[in-house]
Amino acid sequence: MNLKDLYINYFVSKGHKQIPSAPVVPENDNTVLFNTAGMQPLIPYLMGQEHPYGKRLCDYQKCIRTNDLDEVGDSYHHTFFEMLGNWSLGDYFKKEAITWSFEFLTKVLNIPVEKLAVTIFAGNEIAPMDLETKELWMNLGIKEERICATTDDNWWPNLELPGLCGPDTEMFYWRSEDPVPEKFDLEDERWVEIWNDVFMQYNHNEDGTIVELPSKNVDTGMGVERTTAILEGKTDNYESSVWRPIIEIIEKVSNQKYEENKRSIRIIADHIRTAVFISADPALIKPSNVGQGYILRRLIRRAIRHAKNIGIDINSNWEQEIASKIIDMYSVYYKELADNKNTVLEVLENEKIKFNKTLEKGIKEFNKVVANGNDIDGTSAFHLFDTYGFPIELTEELASELGLKVDIEGFKQKFKEHQELSRTASAGQFKGGLGGHGEIETKYHTATHLLNAALKIVVNKNIHQRGSNITQDRMRFDFNCDHKLTEEEKQQVEELVNKWINEGIEVTKQEMTKEEAINSGAECMFIEKYPDIVTVYSIGDVSHELCGGPHVKNTKELGQFKIKKEESSSAGVRRIKAILI
Ligand code: ALA
Repeated sequence: MNLKDLYINYFVSKGHKQIPSAPVVPENDNTVLFNTAGMQPLIPYLMGQEHPYGKRLCDYQKCIRTNDLDEVGDSYHHTFFEMLGNWSLGDYFKKEAITWSFEFLTKVLNIPVEKLAVTIFAGNEIAPMDLETKELWMNLGIKEERICATTDDNWWPNLELPGLCGPDTEMFYWRSEDPVPEKFDLEDERWVEIWNDVFMQYNHNEDGTIVELPSKNVDTGMGVERTTAILEGKTDNYESSVWRPIIEIIEKVSNQKYEENKRSIRIIADHIRTAVFISADPALIKPSNVGQGYILRRLIRRAIRHAKNIGIDINSNWEQEIASKIIDMYSVYYKELADNKNTVLEVLENEKIKFNKTLEKGIKEFNKVVANGNDIDGTSAFHLFDTYGFPIELTEELASELGLKVDIEGFKQKFKEHQELSRTASAGQFKGGLGGHGEIETKYHTATHLLNAALKIVVNKNIHQRGSNITQDRMRFDFNCDHKLTEEEKQQVEELVNKWINEGIEVTKQEMTKEEAINSGAECMFIEKYPDIVTVYSIGDVSHELCGGPHVKNTKELGQFKIKKEESSSAGVRRIKAILI
């Protein structure tokens, strides 16, 4: 049995309910691009809301951390990883959490206790030293010399960040053939962290104050990739069974050996795997120059660059083969991969075709830029970005391989200048495209916001606008959705929009900074296209959207809303044509 199954079975046997992994793109939290820990989707419940599955939960959660994206290539960095976790929502606390962690490690995974060490919280002005945890570990058989107390490293996530937090105890494993030292030295890199039990009992407010939560919770996290490698005796995570099948396909399509091309092969394996998970997520993210879409673009383009490095024919279907293998491997656990297989393969192929067109010429241009051996200035970096589609991070990586630097500030400046130009251009286009803001078009604008809001409630909260077009005679609205709407859904959407119209809800307009708008959760299609100060239109509590307007003053002006047609627009995108009568 593999680690995920062993873990879930164990915690289910201790009265936990298994919950499904949440999507990698957070559903109700726009403070982060991706879920970075198992606890993230559980924040409302850790704060006191009742969870439908009860007080003891466990899962394996898809996580993506992109801070170290450019570090991927060594033996242990990954952008995507799976986190195993068990939670107590105000139910059990330290004793059970620690006892079960110990039992799972030593009895289920059969790790000898001699190879384990732990850290505990050393205490500060918020909470005292965690002697209870120390005693629990010692009663289980961990020697005092194997327990080390720290302040900063044993407060999760850390002492600065606002949000849920608490002292933790981390478990370490001796990953080396060398004899295990009696005394645990946290600085010795042969000790690797494998699991973290957080006693999440505080909330760190924005103003810096720390208050106790309504209940004392337990939040734990164990990384599948690292622990699997450890259990299989590998010091290179990429040599474990998690990666082996993927790397074999890369060896096959490149006709190269992992041993001789470790860095590029790790990058290809990691980045394609993450790209598969992002593009299969219900939010149906597509490569773009902003937010999650930009991360997706960077991953695919960096993988392509390294594929080229190791001699893969980048016009062949190499990435389809790798992605298909990943989908096959993970579909048992994440059904969305199989369901969205076509979309994923299409995303990879389209982005590859797009980038391949300019990659060769871009590399030539890059070589010209660096021919004089100087660092790369902002204008050249921007030219590589704008004309050849080189994400700035890719230019930086290419430069650093030659020991050169890139003027990032200069690049940003050029980027900004360019944005201002294209904003003026697209504003002109916007006016022309609409062909006037007559009374009826104004009504359709407001109806579009209501339709967007209704689709989220009736069909799926992850629906967003993908396009819109308004004429005197009708409105057209494109949105991401993986299925044809049922008659029932269409009817409910229509009814909800008409209900809001009949309620006579006031439409209000507010100016704010782009950041405030994003933080307030306002709906927006292309954030990068907006100026720093934006207009947000609100229709009561029903809708908040960034929009240039114009809109009616009150929804009752709209009359009656009717859906005329619902059809496919493109892969994963549906189109509704509707009228007001
Ligand atoms: N939330 C804790 C972590 O990510 C368990 O380490």
